[in-house]
Amino acid sequence: MEEELIGIKNTALSFILEAEDLENLEETKLQFLGRSGKLTLALKEIIKVPVEKRKEFGLLANEVKQTIEDAIEIQKSKLKTQKLGKIVGKIDVTNPGIKPLLGHLHLVTQAIEEITNIFEKISFEKLRYPEVEWDWYVFEALNFPDNHPARDDWETFFIKGNADPKKGPMLLAPHTSGGQIREMERKQKPPIRMLNIAKCYRRQSDISHSPMFHQFEGLVVDKDISITNLKGTLDYFVKSWFGEKRQSRIRPYHFQFTEPSFEVDVSCGVCKGLGCKLCKAGWLEMGGAGMVHPNVLKAGGIDPNKYTGFAFGWGVERVLMMREGLKIDDLRILYSNNLEFLQQF
Ligand code: DAH
Repeated sequence: MEEELIGIKNTALSFILEAEDLENLEETKLQFLGRSGKLTLALKEIIKVPVEKRKEFGLLANEVKQTIEDAIEIQKSKLKTQKLGKIVGKIDVTNPGIKPLLGHLHLVTQAIEEITNIFEKISFEKLRYPEVEWDWYVFEALNFPDNHPARDDWETFFIKGNADPKKGPMLLAPHTSGGQIREMERKQKPPIRMLNIAKCYRRQSDISHSPMFHQFEGLVVDKDISITNLKGTLDYFVKSWFGEKRQSRIRPYHFQFTEPSFEVDVSCGVCKGLGCKLCKAGWLEMGGAGMVHPNVLKAGGIDPNKYTGFAFGWGVERVLMMREGLKIDDLRILYSNNLEFLQQF
């Protein structure tokens, strides 16, 4: 049976190669793949194949069919060009070539590269800490006590499996702040200037939330680091990313892992701070920041009596939308592989 299939394949291929025109090729196709074509009839014989060998026979049959079909397509395009050549007489080499379609980086990847460049200029080190993480890094070490209600704010996906006796259950990182602890562990000693850009996951999916998104997290730890250093860094980023004329402002807020904590705002680019439909009285909210909580430094093995630090964490998609003034009806379109949308950037 198998030999018969191979035989059919070989004859079909030689017929196809010899086909002199499209009509001839069409006949060959019918002869092998048509309703009473040679291959079609041979495939009906599958009933005669012992049950345990049918799978193997089926696989071979499919392969033979595919090879014949591919060969027909190749020969078809060859014959078509020949036909065209005959009509045109010769190919006009002065015709402009066909421009191949070029792809480009996804707009979020472009943003990540740009953000990285901005921070590398002031000697931040770009890293990417794990997306599948232990509870210890994203909660416990960041000063979230057990069962603290703040853990719910992050709408975390937990992973089934054995929990680590020390590090607790595994989860999908709901924010990049866990990278702070990993970086302190890696460096062991300040100075630390980390930029952790990674994927984050939260159980939220609606027009303004995608369950997977990106954050960029900054951490600076050294002697005598103060809020002034934080403010200077924020200003630098805001001006580099949004434009020279934009300003940053910090408002008191609360996060478990920073003390004091702030929300960072950026002045509205449309009304220049006067207040308009886009902003709240001239300001747009960008994300969180603060001075690293002493408990967090301790959890990372750094002496809070010797060193201080600041941290910030913002959404890549968010700062991108804010800058481009993109009015996307549904944020999830960013990750839907919709070429009509993506080609615009
Ligand atoms: N991790 C916080 C979030 O996902 C953002 C954040 C706030 C990060 C304050 C920080 C910080 O580093 O200092 O909402």
